[in-house]
Amino acid sequence: MKGVILAGGNGTRLHPITLGISKQLLPVYDKPMIYYPLSVLMLAGITEIEIITTPQEQEAFRRLLGDGSWLGISLTYAEQEKPRGLADAFLVSADHIGDDSVALVLGDNIFHGYEFGPMLQRLSQNVQGCVLFGYPVRDPERYGIGVLDRNGELVAIEEKPERPRSNLAITGLYLYDNKVVEFARRLQPSERGELEITDLNRIYVERGEATLVPLGRGFVWLDAGTHDALMEAGNYVQILEHRQGVRIACLEEIAWRMGYIDRETCYRLGSRLANSAYGRYIMEVAEAG
Ligand code: G1P
Repeated sequence: MKGVILAGGNGTRLHPITLGISKQLLPVYDKPMIYYPLSVLMLAGITEIEIITTPQEQEAFRRLLGDGSWLGISLTYAEQEKPRGLADAFLVSADHIGDDSVALVLGDNIFHGYEFGPMLQRLSQNVQGCVLFGYPVRDPERYGIGVLDRNGELVAIEEKPERPRSNLAITGLYLYDNKVVEFARRLQPSERGELEITDLNRIYVERGEATLVPLGRGFVWLDAGTHDALMEAGNYVQILEHRQGVRIACLEEIAWRMGYIDRETCYRLGSRLANSAYGRYIMEVAEAG
């Protein structure tokens, strides 16, 4: 399975912060926002990942993440000139996807939950149709939402409905079989001029090929797309770190635990950042084995 991270857009809801820097490079406590969605793909066992950015921001992402070889993975970059919608990602990254299945994750989405990695590894094996993740929220009108029938089957999806028929938001992580590229090509722009991921997912729902995996109460899903959401996400990561001493979305640690790099390499990556608590954390976990 290939991975795609959509990190384009103008981040207008975060103005004026995003006038000078891409939203997905902003800090969420101790690391850039894109570390979080990247960590999700790495935990799913995906090692060939394309990052879609605006043309003007691509250089900054390259400076941060390079070709991924330091993490034992492959990172490539693609440009999205205008925010043409989430489903446009499959047209931009069609060559990267090739004839494989694909996981798309939005660059401002943060997922954290017990055993999420193994769950994703299971779900991403041999995907038929699409796999979506549902999360109960207080403000479903802000999201795409899923409607389930009595048997828990996904029967409808609506994008930012005024009167939501459920409180189950569809999160910004999507697994698809290879048909997604062809389906994305067939989409027409919506009223706001974008190729909507919800229209794409509807094609799968209508074919009876969409699965919604509920993420339970103990799970944390945050998006960091507004001032408050960004602050809250940072606070969450800080609290967890202070309380448990763990750092979530630490790419170097994940690369080592997933077997993409060895322990010595992990330690060396930490030592390069030894002036920061983040770097010293990496050295400590690598040392502890
Ligand atoms: C997008 C999708 C929406 C989804 C959300 C998740 O909304 O259109 O269906 O629930 O991402 O973050 P946006 O953040 O672009 O408003």
